Amino acid sequence: MTNSSLHGQSGGSPYDPEAFEVFASHTTKYDTLSGVLIDHIAREATSNRQLRILDVGCGPGQLTFPLLASLPRRLSVELVDYTGVDSRGRVLSDLQTALMALEAGRSCKYSLTFIHSTAEDAIAVGQVSDQFDLILCSHMLYYVPRWQWLIRKLQSLLAPNCELCVILTASFETLGMIREIGEANGVSWCATKPTASAFLKWLRSTGSAFTMERHFSSLSLTSVAEENRERAVERLAMCFAFLSGQCERTIFVDAARRFLESAQMEFPLAEDIFWLKHEE
Ligand SMILES: C[S@@+](CC[C@H](N)C(=O)[O-])C[C@H]1O[C@@H](n2cnc3c(N)ncnc32)[C@H](O)[C@@H]1O
Repeated sequence: MTNSSLHGQSGGSPYDPEAFEVFASHTTKYDTLSGVLIDHIAREATSNRQLRILDVGCGPGQLTFPLLASLPRRLSVELVDYTGVDSRGRVLSDLQTALMALEAGRSCKYSLTFIHSTAEDAIAVGQVSDQFDLILCSHMLYYVPRWQWLIRKLQSLLAPNCELCVILTASFETLGMIREIGEANGVSWCATKPTASAFLKWLRSTGSAFTMERHFSSLSLTSVAEENRERAVERLAMCFAFLSGQCERTIFVDAARRFLESAQMEFPLAEDIFWLKHEE
């Protein structure tokens, strides 16, 4: 039985799920990342029968879904107790539908909880207070002004010997591109948003125990049929605008579209994965 709950209502937002879908379906990054995460977790695994996962800024589940689908095979857990937190309701319901279909015919059960809230509020009001065996924070810190506070809180929610996984775009590629487009159009990247190198610098200053790895994948629109290209580019431009946090700015979408067209539809992607250990 799947035990799922959906807190809160979906609010109006400029986020375009179709745009994110175009990005997700033309990048190899979710295969790369889910494989990397599963290998790491399987190496560190204890013999627990239950795996409690907290996924902050879970999004539509492009990363979560392949991860949850494969984990039971690698770890022989009987229950995956998953809590996804996201400030956008629509993406949570998409993920819920995909995960519920996954359970059919499996000996492993999934207990799913979705919290429609910012991670900061969910923690502050005690909606998220359990101990977790794995906490995922993938590409969401950019949107959190007090991200250092959030990381400290997440570390305090880890069970002994467990890890918090923070994924950030490596500073030199997509993020640099988004910043470049913004700056060329008078839209500044917000100084509080952490790049991977800023995050690394901060992490070192805290004295936290961690490991770090960089992984490469790609984004390519070359397989999109000619007649669908324009629409795909438009959607991707929207997606980059969302990723930059500047979604309302039409100027940014225009600039991103021009950039995508001139870059001939193919980009390298690089991500830094930080594994932060539980701290007493
Ligand atoms: C770029 S997506 C990443 C989704 C997913 N984690 C992944 O790696 O594909 C960022 C997600 O964080 C969510 N988000 C942004 N700010 C948030 C906050 N303060 N608390 C919770 N979720 C947030 C957005 O709604 C979005 O779904």
